[in-house]
Amino acid sequence: MEKLFQVAIDGPAAAGKSTVAKITAKSLGYVYIDTGAMYRSLTYKALKEKVDLNDGDALKKLLDHTEIRLVQEYTGQKVYVDGENVTERIRYPEVSEHVSLVSSHEPVRKVMVDRQRQLAKSCNVVMDGRDIGTHVLPGAQVKVFLNASVEERAVRRYREEEKKGRHSDMDALRKAIALRDKKDMEREVSPLIKAEDAVVVDTTSLSVDEVVEKILTLVKEKQLS
Ligand code: CDP
Ligand code: CDP
Repeated sequence: MEKLFQVAIDGPAAAGKSTVAKITAKSLGYVYIDTGAMYRSLTYKALKEKVDLNDGDALKKLLDHTEIRLVQEYTGQKVYVDGENVTERIRYPEVSEHVSLVSSHEPVRKVMVDRQRQLAKSCNVVMDGRDIGTHVLPGAQVKVFLNASVEERAVRRYREEEKKGRHSDMDALRKAIALRDKKDMEREVSPLIKAEDAVVVDTTSLSVDEVVEKILTLVKEKQLS
């Protein structure tokens, strides 16, 4: 059987990972796997069930009994937790505030990484997250580290909220993004870090299409080599 092709996309919050990964996957006919949505799903359920977010073993136990499904539907990718559509809810500020703590626990990461590798076992994938190139798929043929200034990333989130008819505080957004990055970069287990063989793409002044084009070029180069 031909070796499966894997594209790993990592980077800080709001760098454009999921937007770009989704379009890249569609264009290549690959499956898109949003690992952040998996950590967000567990955080959502832990908050709902009032599990202590500092207790890694309790969270792992909860995860063992939680079914998280990423489903490609006609209207876009949807996320289901035990059959409940949580696509919108896992993006709420309360989940964003706590997800870095939940994802910092080793027992939780171990189960998540096993599930992510399992999902990538039988098809070509574009997977995005924080530790994909360094840990989840170290053999990925293409690794990209997306970045952008904190200012630009806060503006992107602001615009997203605006589109949904919600007004947000720019300063609070900037602080929340910077704080989550700090926690993700400073955790002991699989911190957010560029893989040695990842290509850095600074998206601050690039459009979504330009970033996708760069990644597709990297994929084509690799496939021809
Ligand atoms: O989309 P956004 O950048 O806001 O975040 P996300 O990709 O949905 O990830 C949410 C959080 O999950 C991150 O801030 C990390 O704490 C955690 N995460 C992780 O630890 N490892 C991954 N592979 C993906 C996400
Ligand atoms: O997944 P991650 O948190 O890294 O970012 P995202 O959820 O894809 O959000 C990025 C936002 O910035 C989206 O609204 C994109 O339309 C926008 N954007 C981008 O992703 N890439 C650019 N080069 C420019 C804007």
